[in-house]
Amino acid sequence: ALCLTCTSAAKEATKKTKKPKLYVPQIDCDVKAGKIINPEFIAKCPPGCQDVKYRVYGTDIYASFSSVCGAAIHSGIIDSSGGKILVQKVAGHSGYKGSFSNGIRSLSLPRWRESFIVSEGKPRKGVTYPPTLEYSSSKSSTVKSDCKVDLSFLIDGSWSIGKRRFQIQKQFLSDVSQALDIGIAGPLMGIIQYGDDPSTEFNLKTYANSRDLRNAIEKISQKGGLSNVGRALSFVNKNFFSDANGNRGGAPNVAIVMVDGWPTDKVEEASRLARESGINIFFVTIEAADENEKQNVIEPNFVDKAVCRTNGFYSINVPSWFSLHKVVQLLVKRVCDTDRLACSKTCLNSADIGFVIDGSSSVGTGNFRTLLQFVANISKEFEISDTDTRIGAVQYTYEQRLEFGFDKYSTKQDVLNAIKRINYWSGGTSTGEAINYASEHLFSKSKPNKRKIMILITDGRSYDDVRVPAMTAHQNGVIAYSIGIAWAAQDELEAIATDPDKEHSFFVDEFDNLYKFVSKIIQNICTEFNSQPRN
Ligand SMILES: *[C@@H]1O[C@H](CO)[C@@H](O)[C@H](O)[C@H]1NC(C)=O
Repeated sequence: ALCLTCTSAAKEATKKTKKPKLYVPQIDCDVKAGKIINPEFIAKCPPGCQDVKYRVYGTDIYASFSSVCGAAIHSGIIDSSGGKILVQKVAGHSGYKGSFSNGIRSLSLPRWRESFIVSEGKPRKGVTYPPTLEYSSSKSSTVKSDCKVDLSFLIDGSWSIGKRRFQIQKQFLSDVSQALDIGIAGPLMGIIQYGDDPSTEFNLKTYANSRDLRNAIEKISQKGGLSNVGRALSFVNKNFFSDANGNRGGAPNVAIVMVDGWPTDKVEEASRLARESGINIFFVTIEAADENEKQNVIEPNFVDKAVCRTNGFYSINVPSWFSLHKVVQLLVKRVCDTDRLACSKTCLNSADIGFVIDGSSSVGTGNFRTLLQFVANISKEFEISDTDTRIGAVQYTYEQRLEFGFDKYSTKQDVLNAIKRINYWSGGTSTGEAINYASEHLFSKSKPNKRKIMILITDGRSYDDVRVPAMTAHQNGVIAYSIGIAWAAQDELEAIATDPDKEHSFFVDEFDNLYKFVSKIIQNICTEFNSQPRN
């Protein structure tokens, strides 16, 4: 305890002598110049913006429809490791030329309404640069409708933070809640203050708008103690996201952890458990340990151990409490990017599952019912919503028909009802064509953060070739399971299934025994998910 007091005193002392730094707002690789309202700004790009998915249009002068950081690499101002850039908006024109430069291929574009140029990230004389960027998409009305998340803020109440910085932290919470525009149709927010032990200041359903929340934040008083972040994360995992506290289920769970300096306990294990139960953890670290202080940090690289490894998406480091307000927009943008909140996923809430169902004449009406029951019994085990697992289905004979796509239903009950309503078609068996059809009409519409799982059920040999369609599906990232009944051909089932076949291919002699495979299939889907590298 003695030692902890002196480190926190040391921490306090170094802070007071720190010089204020010129703060440059950060932007993500996917930010297009047109999304930023400021006509001229300096910003910092993260590493990794050379990816082709960040499209760039033009050469030297870029259409504002381009990724700012991608254009900066294309023009040679920064390389793939990121860095500071100066961006100036200029008039739109026609005939943007594409070219290959510095490892990036830019595209041509006939015309656009606005352009920009990128140069070295140094301020021009006499120009004041905005410390915060104004995004056109972060107007409250757009955020609210797009940003349905259940959010817990873990705020640092330890003694080391001091009164003044605690006040700044509260201001930050207020700013974030304002920018999010709290409301029951959009984001909801609760707050936990941690010190020696965590305690809930208020939960998700206590306040339903930003104004009430701001008044409540103003009244929070500092509790003091150590900075036991790990303990706080366990607390959030066990207590915060319960239905009784207003957890909505359909909205992703997010925990934003504010850390002054570094935690006084370990965070790795508690974070992992929280992530595994579906909580997306963000760390905002302020005034991190410098070289001299590093020896006091209990768990080196605690941020990397706590958050999911996706290129810094889940962590923000701010050099000084006095520049904290400059990351409000960045944090809000990331928290609201619900398509990317995927790292906390479990095998039950992370997939797009497409059933490909044989409706040929040999199945028969009675067996077709059993088959649909089988589809329903598998679906039932998953957590179904827009942001969790989604289900789609195709029925085939000689022909193919989309029964419903992934975006058609967003509750378990609706999906189960839709499965029940599938009408038996009757006809031939073109399994190869059916796989092609599923690739094109189901899986092409899968979201990038979902695992694509195909479950194909057939009772006979296919009239066409299944090998090429199956291989193409595998190459496109589809994990294929095949279930054969009665006259189904073993060689085809194995060709359809993802390797190893033993875990993806099943055979039963009669429809009445299908039920035996429900739990086995779920188990294999989860085993496969858990064996993938994750943080
Ligand atoms: C589906 O589940 C129900 C209820 O548990 C069970 O009675 C039925 O046999 C199952 N059918 C199949 C085909 O899995």
